[in-house]
Amino acid sequence: MTHQHTERPEDHFTREFWDERYVGEQVWSGNPNPHLVTYGSELRPGTALDFGSGEGADAIWLAQQGWQVTAIDISVVALEGVAARAAELDLELICLQADAFSWSADTTYDLVSAQFMHLPRPAFVRLHRELAASVAPGGTLLIVGHHPEDIGHAPEGTTFEDVRFTAEETASTLDPAEWDTIDALRLEREWIDRDGRPAVAVDAVLRAVRRG
Ligand SMILES: C[S@@+](CC[C@H](N)C(=O)[O-])C[C@H]1O[C@@H](n2cnc3c(N)ncnc32)[C@H](O)[C@@H]1O
Repeated sequence: MTHQHTERPEDHFTREFWDERYVGEQVWSGNPNPHLVTYGSELRPGTALDFGSGEGADAIWLAQQGWQVTAIDISVVALEGVAARAAELDLELICLQADAFSWSADTTYDLVSAQFMHLPRPAFVRLHRELAASVAPGGTLLIVGHHPEDIGHAPEGTTFEDVRFTAEETASTLDPAEWDTIDALRLEREWIDRDGRPAVAVDAVLRAVRRG
């Protein structure tokens, strides 16, 4: 995932910034994120939330596996693209526009996924608490992002706050009494960098299963 850094960190988390990015050319690969495929494939389909869905490759993949998917993003342009792609594929998807800085869970899902949905602290901690609160009993929380050791996604040379995080940091926002399993992982993954060269990305992967 590549980012154009500006000198105003707050600009990275607005509808204007992301609508502009999503107009015109495709931004991401179009493939579902690998950790979602790994862990999602182990689960029996139910209801799923994909928060920060972007162009919707994850939401579409989940719907194709039989999940009833709600895709949330701040970008209306992205969500319109997701809805159009779902319609082409004859898939039913709920697309909702919301801002992670103020969004609160009003229902629960069997799977809650947020892939590379980075935010500055303390909004990041608040969002992760809300995502955890929206996991149904027995459901799974899967939060994936760039690990601080992922040099290919470092915010060097800018005034941009380092929004990378460890899975342990996210795990620390969970109450262990409420979860059967909390796996906080650092996983390496091969990818092609922005210069087209093979590289290794380092991901923070938090997978937790809520008590049934
Ligand atoms: C790095 S992209 C990841 C997209 C997708 N999950 C993927 O892995 O391809 C981050 C996404 O977060 C969304 N986003 C950024 N700020 C947001 C905010 N304040 N509220 C909700 N979504 C936001 C962007 O529109 C973008 O789609």
